[in-house]
Amino acid sequence: MKTILYSSLALLLLSACSSAPSEDKKTKTVVDDKISAITQAQNVVQQTNKNIHTQEKATAQITAEPAHGPTLYIKCASCHGKDGKKSALSASQSIAGWPSEKTQAALHGYNNGTYGGKMKAVMKGQSKPLSDEEIIEVSNYISTL
Ligand code: HEC
Repeated sequence: MKTILYSSLALLLLSACSSAPSEDKKTKTVVDDKISAITQAQNVVQQTNKNIHTQEKATAQITAEPAHGPTLYIKCASCHGKDGKKSALSASQSIAGWPSEKTQAALHGYNNGTYGGKMKAVMKGQSKPLSDEEIIEVSNYISTL
C-alpha cells in the first residue's frame, strides 16, 4: 500500500515537474512581451519629452532675441529707400546716418504724438508695432547707412 502511495506521489511530482517548465516559459514570454511593450512606451515618452524640450528651447531663443536691425529695416526701405537717403513719400528728410538716439527719439515721438509733420500718422503706423528693443536695433542700423 505504501509503495503504491509513494510511486503515485512520485508520478504526480514528475508530471508536475514536466509541466512546470512549459508553463514557466509561457508566463515568461507574456512577461517579456509586457516588459518590451513598457520599454517601448517609455522610449516614446522620453523621445516626446526630448522633442518638447528642444522646441521650448528654440521658442525661448526666438522670443529672447529681438529682430535684427537689417531685417527690421526691410519694411522701412520701401519708403525711405534701401540706403535711407530717399525722402519717404516726398515728406521726410533723408534719415541715412542719423545718430541712433535721434532716430529713436523720432520713433518714440511718432508713437506718443510729440514728433512729426503732416504725414506723422503714416509713420506712427510704422513705429507703433516696434518694441523698445526693436527701435534701438533699427535705429542702430540706420546710423550705419
Ligand atoms: C509707408 C511709408 C513709410 C514707411 C514704410 C516708413 N516710413 Fe518713416 N517716414 C515716412 C514718412 C511719410 C515720414 C514723414 C512723416 C512726417 O510727416 O513727419 C517718415 C519719417 C520718418 C522719420 C523722421 C524723418 C523726418 O523727416 O523727421 C524716421 C526716423 C523714420 N521715418 C523712420 C522709419 C523707420 C525706422 C521705418 C521702419 C520701421 C519707417 N520709417 C518706415 C514714411 C514711411
